[in-house]
Amino acid sequence: MNAVIHQQGASRTSEKPPLLSVKDLSTYFFSREGVLKAVDGVSFEIRRGEALGIAGESGCGKSVTAQSILRLVPSNGRIVGGQILLHDDGGATDLVKLNWKGPEIRRIRGKEIAMIFQEPMAGFSMVYTIGNQTIEAIRLHQHCSQAEARKIAIETLGRVGMPKPEQTIDAYPYALSGGMRQRAMIAMALSCHPSLLIADEPTTAVDVTIQAQVLELLKDLQRDMSMALMVITHDLAVISELCDRVMIMYLGKDVESAPARALFSDPKHPYTVGLLKSVPELGRGRGQEIAAISGSVPGPYERPRGCSFHPRCPRLIQNVCDVEPPPQVELASSHRVRCHLYA
Ligand SMILES: Nc1ncnc2c1ncn2[C@@H]1O[C@H](COP(=O)(O)OP(=O)(O)O)[C@@H](O)[C@H]1O
Ligand SMILES: [Mg+2]
Repeated sequence: MNAVIHQQGASRTSEKPPLLSVKDLSTYFFSREGVLKAVDGVSFEIRRGEALGIAGESGCGKSVTAQSILRLVPSNGRIVGGQILLHDDGGATDLVKLNWKGPEIRRIRGKEIAMIFQEPMAGFSMVYTIGNQTIEAIRLHQHCSQAEARKIAIETLGRVGMPKPEQTIDAYPYALSGGMRQRAMIAMALSCHPSLLIADEPTTAVDVTIQAQVLELLKDLQRDMSMALMVITHDLAVISELCDRVMIMYLGKDVESAPARALFSDPKHPYTVGLLKSVPELGRGRGQEIAAISGSVPGPYERPRGCSFHPRCPRLIQNVCDVEPPPQVELASSHRVRCHLYA
């Protein structure tokens, strides 16, 4: 039996081969009120072993982007355009083209791309033990016996810092504390050694000390397993801790993407600048962390004309930003922004 954890040690270069290329992805919801453009022409790439952070206020399309990748968009929504290319040695598979209930995407979910959720209960059923569920996930994707799968599950629980994994494996999810449940969910996600782990607000539901531990754990795992990570959060401090690249979303659009260092030292989009000001510990705008961005995200059906951020923008150019949607501009190597200021 191969060991679950490969100690490869990733170096942080941009020379790594691409793992996931999302091109012009659009995912809409349809209802009596109209069409809700939850994701509206978003493009990004994740390389093998790299960590991408996706940030933006609540309702900007972060979770729907993740649901689209896993083809788990709720039934009132649909991917209406774009490609989601999952690369492997032999080429690439466009996940958009797969039947969402078919065997290909089911093989990819868990085995290639695993996900952990905000609320650790969401990933588990309450009527089975941690072990039952983890072993089932392992056996779904790897040809191994029940006993071998159990051994892998115990090893993985140990790897994520679960105390007494030989005993915890037989515990029910409700019997664990929030932090331990979060670790168990991470272990379940990792047990099949995915190439990409998507973490949607991984630390919002747990308290501050546990948050730090979970982040530390994700960072270690990503490095040791040379696994790619897509971290969704509204917390830019989390991204500065973990990520190589960042994409900022606003109302379904990718308004700015850049290497993390460039984005934090030289943010371009007025929305990004505002978000950074609201995080005092990042050192920008110290002492003025309140109300860094005026107003609030408009309702999903009332998308402003031109640039959707213009009603809140401190650098609004009249008769331009409120009329024309901004083009996407490439400023430096892989630093892109959708803003008239740079066009
Ligand atoms: N199942 C759904 N039905 C209708 N609208 C939805 C559904 N899920 C999400 N949305 C809408 O899509 C937009 C993006 O949501 P989401 O991706 O969850 O935002 P985020 O994760 O950035 O907070 C929001 O306007 C949200 O209300
Ligand atoms: Mg969300």
